Amino acid sequence: MILLLILFPCIYFLPFCINRTVRNSPEYSAADYYKSSIQYHKSYSNMPHSVTPSIEQDSLKIAILGAAGGIGQSLSLLLKAQLQYQLKESNRSVTHIHLALYDVNQEAINGVTADLSHIDTPISVSSHSPAGGIENCLHNASIVVIPAGVPRKPGMTRDDLFNVNAGIISQLGDSIAECCDLSKVFVLVISNPVNSLVPVMVSNILKNHPQSRNSGIERRIMGVTKLDIVRASTFLREINIESGLTPRVNSMPDVPVIGGHSGETIIPLFSQSNFLSRLNEDQLKYLIHRVQYGGDEVVKAKNGKGSATLSMAHAGYKCVVQFVSLLLGNIEQIHGTYYVPLKDANNFPIAPGADQLLPLVDGADYFAIPLTITTKGVSYVDYDIVNRMNDMERNQMLPICVSQLKKNIDKGLEFVASRSASS
Ligand SMILES: NC(=O)c1ccc[n+]([C@@H]2O[C@H](COP(=O)([O-])OP(=O)(O)OC[C@H]3O[C@@H](n4cnc5c(N)ncnc54)[C@H](O)[C@@H]3O)[C@@H](O)[C@H]2O)c1
Repeated sequence: MILLLILFPCIYFLPFCINRTVRNSPEYSAADYYKSSIQYHKSYSNMPHSVTPSIEQDSLKIAILGAAGGIGQSLSLLLKAQLQYQLKESNRSVTHIHLALYDVNQEAINGVTADLSHIDTPISVSSHSPAGGIENCLHNASIVVIPAGVPRKPGMTRDDLFNVNAGIISQLGDSIAECCDLSKVFVLVISNPVNSLVPVMVSNILKNHPQSRNSGIERRIMGVTKLDIVRASTFLREINIESGLTPRVNSMPDVPVIGGHSGETIIPLFSQSNFLSRLNEDQLKYLIHRVQYGGDEVVKAKNGKGSATLSMAHAGYKCVVQFVSLLLGNIEQIHGTYYVPLKDANNFPIAPGADQLLPLVDGADYFAIPLTITTKGVSYVDYDIVNRMNDMERNQMLPICVSQLKKNIDKGLEFVASRSASS
């Protein structure tokens, strides 16, 4: 008994003493501690933090590529914190949502994932990098969101990002084609320049991956232009209140924004806003310009440290949550504006309404337009919004938009053609 009383404290406290000694020893520096924790996450990196294989079968998996970046981190946080509310409504067999986070920056993505994994929601997270392979991230993914790439610096246009980001997008497209079920997956492209990169993504998959044939994947690849809609709504409310035209209300106006996602390709349709507005011509011009070049305000304010991340993550979250809701069966259709191809792989209109839109936009092959989206992809293109434009929007803004957009689209298609020719 006496022997036991002496031995018990020794056995109990020995591991703590050894651990403290090792950590306090000069050989076990802060860097070692960091390395060992990264090691832990490396070994854990391809396993969802709280997903067992059996649970994963019932999971809705969302892959975020470029998740360690400014947009990726904030978007992942919003999804980790908020998506559980979608599950509560769901009457489908899906019982779980899994965020698979991928980035080329391995240390950063391990850190982001570990951090997010402590948030007390039942959404699981897993960390992925080239070391473990992108395939573990993409396998079984229902939604792939892409904020991977380089952002703008002051003085740069979105087009200046093309060369670097087109290479990234086409490589990620190759991986999506190889690892995802092309007859089901939705791909949301955030990376800029959206006007050219969506054509890169669509054309690369259709041209270079025979498994895409008859998959209908082109109906499920969309460029995210939601931030323009978010900005139009915010700026319209602001100017109305500042000019004393509207009392301060807590609701936000809806403003349709169509065309593309850069400069004058962005067409905010204030004439079709639900907000009673009596703005004069100068105010309207200021507002249109502010929506078209709103991104520059953020780039300038961040002074070389990137472009919009938080507002973009908010806009991206609004989009992703709709797709989650659709795939969980909480809603039957999405009504939303995305930048999409207007023709399918066989050169036929992508969906009803696209045939009417094509002549209105002078045959531009891609356009951001309100859509109806089902689990199969784009099912209706709301071309009539173009017919409802006022004279200034139709005769001045639309032609400029379309001529620039066509150049942006061609740039993307030429990139894929030369990539295919050289491989
Ligand atoms: N659609 C929009 O409205 C909108 C708005 C703002 C920014 N953007 C664009 O989104 C992109 C990301 O912006 P950000 O501010 O988050 O940039 P960021 O530099 O903070 O993050 C980009 C992340 O992508 C990662 N990355 C780079 N190459 C990769 C690859 N091959 N695979 C996976 N990950 C890779 C980087 O490591 C980094 O973590 C930029 O192109 C930016 O212009 C789009």
